[in-house]
Amino acid sequence: MNSLKNDIGFIGAGNMAGALIAGLINGGLDPKEIIASSPEDSHLLALNTEFGIKTTKDNLEIGRNCNTIVIAVKPHIVNSVLNELSDLINAKQHLIISIAAGIRIKDIQKHLKGGQRIVRAMPNTPASIGKGVSALCANENCSDEDLKISRGVFESVGATCVLVEKSLDLYTSLIGSGPAYIFYLVEALMESSKELNFEESEIKNLLLDMIIGSAELAKQSSDSPGTLRKKVTSPGGVTERALEVFKEEKLKSTIQKAMKAATKRSIELGDK
Ligand SMILES: NC(=O)c1ccc[n+]([C@@H]2O[C@H](COP(=O)([O-])OP(=O)(O)OC[C@H]3O[C@@H](n4cnc5c(N)ncnc54)[C@H](OP(=O)(O)O)[C@@H]3O)[C@@H](O)[C@H]2O)c1
Repeated sequence: MNSLKNDIGFIGAGNMAGALIAGLINGGLDPKEIIASSPEDSHLLALNTEFGIKTTKDNLEIGRNCNTIVIAVKPHIVNSVLNELSDLINAKQHLIISIAAGIRIKDIQKHLKGGQRIVRAMPNTPASIGKGVSALCANENCSDEDLKISRGVFESVGATCVLVEKSLDLYTSLIGSGPAYIFYLVEALMESSKELNFEESEIKNLLLDMIIGSAELAKQSSDSPGTLRKKVTSPGGVTERALEVFKEEKLKSTIQKAMKAATKRSIELGDK
C-alpha cells in the first residue's frame, strides 16, 4: 500500500475501520501513518494496543492531520460528523472516502464546501477477514491519484472494482448482500443434512469447504460456471435430478426476482 502519501484518518473505530486498518498494516503501511477517532475509549485502546496506531477522541484532529479521511461511522451518524468537520475540510487538502451504507455522494457533498473530492465505497462483510469485495464510486472532482489511493485502501482487504454510482444499487443487491445468500444456502443444506448424523460444526465445515473448493475451481478454470455445472451433471444421475427440481421450482427466476426486489429496496433506502 504505497499510494498513500500522507496520514490516513478513520472517523469511527469499529469493525470495518479495524478491518481496513489491519489490511493497510499487513500491506506494509507504517502504523504511525494511521489515526482513528471514536467517542469510545475501549475501541481506541483496542486499535492502539493491537496495531500501534495513533488514536484520538477528537474528530477534528483527523481533519487537521490527514489528507485522506475515511468516514467509518454508522450511516445515521454521518451527517453530524460531516457538519462537525465541514469548516475544516477543503477540496485541496482532503480526499473523503465514505463507507457508510446507503449514503450517496450528493448527500455527503451537501454538508461540505463545493468541489470536494469524495469517494463512496461499499465493502462487504468478508472484508473483515481480508477476503472482501468492495466497489468504489468517485465523484467528478476526484483525480486518478485519488482513485489510486482509494483502491489501495480497499485492495488491502480484498478485490475491488470501480463503478458509476447509479450501478451501486444493483451491485449492493448482488455482492454487498451476497454473503447473506451464501449463508442462506448453507443453512438450507444443513437442514437437509440431518440424517447424516454429523455434529453441526462438522457438517457446516464440510459444506463450507465444498463452497470454497467450488469457488476456487470456478476461479481457476477457463470454463464458465455453466460448463463446470454441466461437467458435474451426468445424464440420468444424482446432480441432474436435483437440478431438475431447481428448474421445476423456477429457482433461477426466483433469484432474478429477488435481485430486482433488493435493488429496488436499495434505491428506496438511498432516497430516504
Ligand atoms: N461491517 C461491515 O461489514 C460493513 C460493510 C459495508 C459497509 N459498512 C459501513 O461501515 C460503517 C461502519 O460500520 P461498522 O460495522 O464498522 O460499525 P461499528 O462497528 O458500529 O463502528 C462504528 C464506529 O463509529 C464510532 N462512532 C460513533 N459516533 C461517532 C462520532 N460521532 N465520531 C466518531 N466516531 C463515532 C463508534 O463508536 P461507539 O461504539 O462508541 O459509538 C464505532 O467506533 C457503517 O456506515 C456501515 O454501513 C460496514
